[in-house]
Amino acid sequence: MSFASSRWPARLIYLGVLLVTASAAAAATYLLTNIQDRQHEALSHYFKLEDLSEDSVDPKLWQKNFPRQYDSYLRTADMVRAKHAGSDAIDKLAEDKYLKHLFAGYAFSIDYREKRGHAYMLLDQENTERVKQKKQPGACLHCHASVLPAYREKGGGDSWAQVQKGFAEVCAMEWKDAHALVSHPVTCVDCHDPKTAQLRVTRPAFILGIQALAKSDDKVPHLPSVERWRQGKRAQPYDPNQDATRQEMRTLACAQCHVEYYFQPKTNLLIYPWFRGLKAEQIESYYDEIDFKDWTHKDSGAPMLKAQHPEFEMWSQGIHARSGVSCADCHMPYKREGAVKVSDHHVRSPLLNLARACQTCHHYDEKEIKGRVETIQNLTRALLERSEVAVKDLIDSLRAARSQGMPAARLKTAQALHRKAQWRLDFVMAENSMGFHAPQEAARILAEAVDFARQGQVVLLKKD
Ligand code: HEC
Ligand code: HEC
Ligand code: HEC
Ligand code: HEC
Ligand code: HEC
Repeated sequence: MSFASSRWPARLIYLGVLLVTASAAAAATYLLTNIQDRQHEALSHYFKLEDLSEDSVDPKLWQKNFPRQYDSYLRTADMVRAKHAGSDAIDKLAEDKYLKHLFAGYAFSIDYREKRGHAYMLLDQENTERVKQKKQPGACLHCHASVLPAYREKGGGDSWAQVQKGFAEVCAMEWKDAHALVSHPVTCVDCHDPKTAQLRVTRPAFILGIQALAKSDDKVPHLPSVERWRQGKRAQPYDPNQDATRQEMRTLACAQCHVEYYFQPKTNLLIYPWFRGLKAEQIESYYDEIDFKDWTHKDSGAPMLKAQHPEFEMWSQGIHARSGVSCADCHMPYKREGAVKVSDHHVRSPLLNLARACQTCHHYDEKEIKGRVETIQNLTRALLERSEVAVKDLIDSLRAARSQGMPAARLKTAQALHRKAQWRLDFVMAENSMGFHAPQEAARILAEAVDFARQGQVVLLKKD
């Protein structure tokens, strides 16, 4: 049917369509403003942000507006224990007989404990013998305190350039002096904008680290906004607070601290080593290039690397990251309280909370889900112990070879293999999920650890 053949003149039909569209649009606009007004009404009852500022470090200031989040946040002080994880600060050196051997000559052979909940991060740093007996820099506080006000104060203002300047200054300070500038463990203002309550990242080392990652050749299918930034070829660096999706932010907020790091020699500037990518060997190749070592092993003489909680890096190699599942999905799942859905701010092991952490996506009973996790963790633990034995054997062989006066060139080849093997072992051991975040990746890394350790022994056995 064409307009010309209809009983209505074409122009009139056009006018009619226009009128109907216009009134529908008007109705929609009315409805929308109405809904928005109502939402605004509801929110303004709930969100009263006018009293909060960048200096609102004390979470009590946020309590009035967000009582539910505040209450669950306080619960990070609870002590919990799961099979391969927990928050009771057990002595790892007593629990695992290989550790003193593996870390000989380094502060981690003096005191190394199971971590605890967020409420303890500042206290545990004050108490560790690693800080009491060894001189540590202000850089440690980047991940153990609500530290941004100190950076702004030292940098002389709020701009990104000033925050970076203050960050560098605090890193270089002595731990004791820097500690005097902070008062609280990680708190609301570290993850939320005080004006809008929106999720954000604040840590300079993280922002610089993810910018370096964006510029690297590493493929990051788990961070689609980085891929988009690369394709856009913008002059400005990647900015997580502008560019990342909300779902990505639910991971990046945690990646501010749960990552591998090192201190630049002399300046003690904290750096996240992601210039080539997030995989264990990409990080290693960066360290090799800048000729970095954390310490020299007392028994083997090798230039060693210490891995530190690479949760973000390990997660990025797993199926959950690939499927867009964030840290917060499992560690801060939603819970319903009356009519509202709130994120559980009691950040802890998801095994203590399987119904909300996993069963939203996996429709098995709790026992089955737990069984699947424990299978992964037990297998990882077994492979980890095998790697510890292999690396310990290489250390023993190296110690013997050194005392027997083996030529330096041959020792050096075996020492390089010790560094490679233990870096891989430690990457899985220091990661806190016992393989769960990326089971196959953890197994691959441990297989390489065993291989490099045994290769080192073979080098020492060869006849000239
Ligand atoms: C400012 C740095 C920082 C941020 C941001 C951060 N964490 Fe932590 N997290 C820590 C430190 C430090 C500890 C160990 C505290 C201790 O041992 O005293 C820790 C401990 C934990 C634990 C162990 C809890 C327990 O009961 O043993 C979990 C789980 C955890 N964090 C998950 C997360 C998740 C998920 C996020 C993001 C929502 C996150 N963290 C954000 C620094 C941080
Ligand atoms: C990049 C962020 C970051 C930096 C920098 C950092 N930490 Fe931590 N620290 C963490 C996280 C995350 C945990 C919890 C996970 C774990 O223990 O593996 C933790 C746990 C700890 C613990 C409790 C467990 C243990 O190892 O005994 C102590 C103590 C500690 N850190 C001391 C320090 C000291 C001292 C420094 C400076 C040399 C430092 N941290 C620098 C993030 C950081
Ligand atoms: C699919 C769910 C899931 C995702 C996504 C996930 N985790 Fe986990 N995480 C777990 C499980 C399961 C464990 C093992 C807990 C246990 O053994 O009790 C764990 C363990 C941990 C632990 C040690 C917990 C403890 O109490 O000792 C930390 C810290 C942690 N994850 C941080 C992170 C961070 C940071 C991210 C994001 C980069 C992340 N996780 C993403 C499920 C997840
Ligand atoms: C380590 C980071 C972190 C800290 C510290 C933190 N939050 Fe959150 N918060 C989150 C994440 C992640 C979400 C989920 C955000 C999303 O999905 O958009 C969230 C969500 C929220 C929301 C939105 C509603 C909801 O429950 O999902 C509010 C309000 C909130 N937090 C308040 C607080 C308050 C108040 C504090 C301090 C007592 C606090 N947060 C501390 C990470 C944090
Ligand atoms: C937001 C959804 C979501 C949540 C929450 C979630 N998962 Fe998954 N999980 C997935 C997806 C998607 C896969 C990939 C397999 C697939 O596509 O079905 C997967 C795969 C797995 C696998 C097999 C993968 C492997 O690594 O070999 C296990 C085991 C698993 N999840 C356990 C858990 C546990 C335990 C929790 C809670 C701590 C959890 N998941 C939370 C979505 C989720």
